[in-house]
Amino acid sequence: APVNVKKICCIGAGYVGGPTCAVIALKCPHIQVTIVDLNQARIDAWNSPDYALPIYEPGLVDVVRVARGRNLFFSTSIDVAVQEADLIFVSVNTPTKKSGVGAGFAADLNYVESATRHIAAVATSSKIVVEKSTVPMRTAESMRTILEANSKPGLRFDILSNPEFLAEGTAIDDLFAPDRVLIGSLQTPEGKSACQSLTNVYANWVPVDRILTVGVWSSELSKLAANAMLAQRISSINALSAICEATGANIEEVAHAVGRDTRVGPKFLRASVGFGGSCFQKDILNLVYLSESLHLPEVAAYWRQVVTLNEYQKRRFSKRVVDTLFNTITNKNIAVLGFAFKADTGDTRESPAITLIRDFLSERAHVTVYDPQVEVSQIWFDLSEALPDVPLEQIKKQVTIANTALSAAQNSEAVVVATEWKEFRDIDWRAVYDTMKKPAFVFDGRMILDRDALREIGFEVMTIGRGD
Ligand code: NAD
Ligand code: UGA
Repeated sequence: APVNVKKICCIGAGYVGGPTCAVIALKCPHIQVTIVDLNQARIDAWNSPDYALPIYEPGLVDVVRVARGRNLFFSTSIDVAVQEADLIFVSVNTPTKKSGVGAGFAADLNYVESATRHIAAVATSSKIVVEKSTVPMRTAESMRTILEANSKPGLRFDILSNPEFLAEGTAIDDLFAPDRVLIGSLQTPEGKSACQSLTNVYANWVPVDRILTVGVWSSELSKLAANAMLAQRISSINALSAICEATGANIEEVAHAVGRDTRVGPKFLRASVGFGGSCFQKDILNLVYLSESLHLPEVAAYWRQVVTLNEYQKRRFSKRVVDTLFNTITNKNIAVLGFAFKADTGDTRESPAITLIRDFLSERAHVTVYDPQVEVSQIWFDLSEALPDVPLEQIKKQVTIANTALSAAQNSEAVVVATEWKEFRDIDWRAVYDTMKKPAFVFDGRMILDRDALREIGFEVMTIGRGD
């Protein structure tokens, strides 16, 4: 019979574990949820009395305010939380490997494996272990092997795959009303019973027809497939944006016309400076690696091209800036508005803004950055990582971090919009114009600005996917 889940432990208090399990706690007051992490600073931030949470996500604070201390707890006492739990989410990071076999492509499973070994070492009762992290196919099998080989005799471990589909910036809405919840299990009576236990947790607020139960391998592959197909849509529209810029076509009109076909659908067709975020590139490369390991080179090449096109899009944009500014930006001031990989998040992982700034710096421009959410220390960290051969003191001579969009634009020859923050639309553009060198250029990498109004003021405006 399915276990009646009373206590949940989530290992990993990051962008996924934090919001996901906070929402479970909110929606299931009868379940005690403890989110644990090795990172003391992160846990302290989750517990901070003034709710200065470690991640910025609209609506998250309200969820934590209600549930924290009631049935939601954040802790570094991993052992206790694991021992007490009936069900454990493993929601640790799975970055692309930096060295060794599969470097640059395969997922680094070190964190998943050590979390799994930790569960095996301390568990004193049977558990349902849920793979929440995005992982290569067959990881659930490895987790099972590790748990069975290292645990105390007589304990049972049922492994489920339950990938997360939330997008940053809309995580809380996505979790409150998911398109679907996917649960993969072995098709044995025990596997199906564990699957039912987790289904019962989600059924507290998700309609049951949105809870899809499948085999464990299908579940693992579906997560990679969903991200690959979403990213592929963006690379498709971005590839078309290059054609638009070279002709008189307008990518917004093209996307609208194509998206009106109900078979294509209107969403996720916005041309941009390129996609960023911690997962799209990582998960596609993971799929490329899988395809190669399975001796399917054509399949690998197909998916790899989605990433190649994205790199091209970023390079193409920074080249357009240089070309337009009379083929040199040396010693010129470029204001970059936005550093996060998308609006409504403070997350900068794989942000296209980083690539653009790196390109501008290599042309020896001076760059001023403004982002409403990203921490100053994070910007320095990301730029040092992007320019490993340049000492930070040198980077700091070329880069200034501003507190407002207006001050970032002061004395600049060009303003580049890299993130689609709503506030960039509402800046006092006339005031911006007055502070800038002339001709004053605006490069809209996100299609959010009112071109006519800006041209009226006197700006030279360049928009992604528009030749005029
Ligand atoms: P993250 O880096 O924000 O969080 C992971 C956390 O796990 C870190 O705080 C780290 O300290 C902790 N951790 C690592 N090993 C641990 C261990 N052994 N014991 C305890 N804590 C440990 O990562 P994230 O963005 O939350 O992503 C987690 C997983 O979810 C990844 O596999 C990712 O691909 C997937 N995912 C992410 C998103 C997203 O929007 N960020 C969406 C869907 C899926
Ligand atoms: C993405 C997926 O949307 C989630 O379903 C998935 O769970 C998650 O990856 C993950 O596995 O990590 P996320 O990366 O948070 O979520 O954000 P998206 O909204 O997908 O945006 C990704 C990037 O694509 C951003 O840089 C965004 O600006 C860009 N984008 C998005 C476009 O350029 N055009 C679009 O039309 C949509």
